[in-house]
Amino acid sequence: LYGWMNNANGLVYEDEEYHLYYQYNPYGSKWGNMHWGHSISKDLMHWEHLAPAIVRDTLGHIFAGSSIVDQENVAGYGTGTILAFYTSASDKNGQIQCLAYSNDNGRTFTKYDKNPILRSSDRRKDFRDPKVFWYAPGNKWIMIVAADKEMRFYDSEDLKDWNYMSSFGEGYGVQPCQFECPDMVELPVDGDTEHKKWALIVNVNPGCYFGGSATQYFIGDFDGTRFICDSKPDVTKWLDWGKDHYATVSFSNMGRRVIVVPWMSNWQYCNNVPTKPFRGVNALPRELGLYTQSGDIYLSAAPVAEVKNLRKETKEIPAFTVANDYHIESLLPDNEGAYELSLDIMAEKAEIIGFSLFNDKGEKVDIYFNLPERKLVMDRTKSGIVDFGKNSVTHEIEVHDRRKTTSINYIDDFALATWAPVRKENKYRLDIFVDKCSVEIFLNEGKIAMSNLVFPTEPYNRMCFYSKGGTFKVDTFKVHRLSL
Ligand code: FRU
Repeated sequence: LYGWMNNANGLVYEDEEYHLYYQYNPYGSKWGNMHWGHSISKDLMHWEHLAPAIVRDTLGHIFAGSSIVDQENVAGYGTGTILAFYTSASDKNGQIQCLAYSNDNGRTFTKYDKNPILRSSDRRKDFRDPKVFWYAPGNKWIMIVAADKEMRFYDSEDLKDWNYMSSFGEGYGVQPCQFECPDMVELPVDGDTEHKKWALIVNVNPGCYFGGSATQYFIGDFDGTRFICDSKPDVTKWLDWGKDHYATVSFSNMGRRVIVVPWMSNWQYCNNVPTKPFRGVNALPRELGLYTQSGDIYLSAAPVAEVKNLRKETKEIPAFTVANDYHIESLLPDNEGAYELSLDIMAEKAEIIGFSLFNDKGEKVDIYFNLPERKLVMDRTKSGIVDFGKNSVTHEIEVHDRRKTTSINYIDDFALATWAPVRKENKYRLDIFVDKCSVEIFLNEGKIAMSNLVFPTEPYNRMCFYSKGGTFKVDTFKVHRLSL
């Protein structure tokens, strides 16, 4: 393991293999020299590293993009060819969209000799990350490109000539932010295949509530020409409520399942995280769905079912009630730092339902529901190594959301707490995946997801539950050891 990785891109499933391409610097562990790195998997969990698939060239860095399988030989390189669409980026040529094709199952790519296939008509400096997909009702291909603070939609019949159709996003969602890495998928609402909606994924940097980069989305319709958003411009919906979830995009050629892979870092401090000799990790692949809540439609992001294959041993802890605090001295013997906690919690009368995960050095992660404030919080201020995120100046960001403007002041980009809105319910289901340097929390089958990096100097192997304002009950509690 060496080098630098930022977001996954060009994800495609073909011939029973998942291809994970990603923004890769083979020559150092900070951002630079962008290539498409490559790994493959049969189950989304066990990955084999391969040689970089698309290498930087005279047109510039190979920035993010998407891949498709050309089932009908539309582009003329053969049936079943994998086509990659990416942005070439350089000071000289700017950001231009290019095409490459692979005749060997995605191992190597040949660049199209007439690249670029698309330039910005108004010379936008930021014009990148093409997402290409087949739109069956219109019998055509669609490309979405992030252009500064909007997404631009193009269509094509031959995958080479692209025709501008519309734009979406100016003034929508969190403001004012740079759009990156678009994706758009159609999904049934509450599992009803007669009622489908489109979700437009818009990664923004900055824009995260807690500073830096994050993933928002919009629900609406797509008529083949334009995206029509269901909500007003000032509504922001987040795919993940942590601080380390960015540039999420989905696998193409998957049939019904929509599976995304988030990059688990944040542009504020990704170049400084204390890992050696590499930087950059992905969060668990997640399966997306749409659900209705209070008349509005949201995306859920649950860990893919395949993650169960990593469970090596399960410890079941009998039910208990938390009146003040309740200690678990050891989660697992010889805990190597990768485990899953699954919990059913009966809220009873508690106002605060909390627990810390900690180690013998006192490094800890605090996770709690603050029910009077309707929040689920993860606090990593004392989680281990945290000092690489300090700012010399105070940042102030303003976030506009649901007709409110909140001003957040912070001097530390890393040592902080993130929170998600929750409803008051009798029962909460939590699935928490802890790894050597991350905590991913999923509430109620992924209705809320929260992903955060942490850098403990030894695994958190102890746990302390605490309540305030009344008792709560931990009804089922399982600890699964995870390993490859
Ligand atoms: C997203 C991003 C993309 C760009 C790539 C460069 O994190 O900034 O917009 O293509 O990373 O590595």
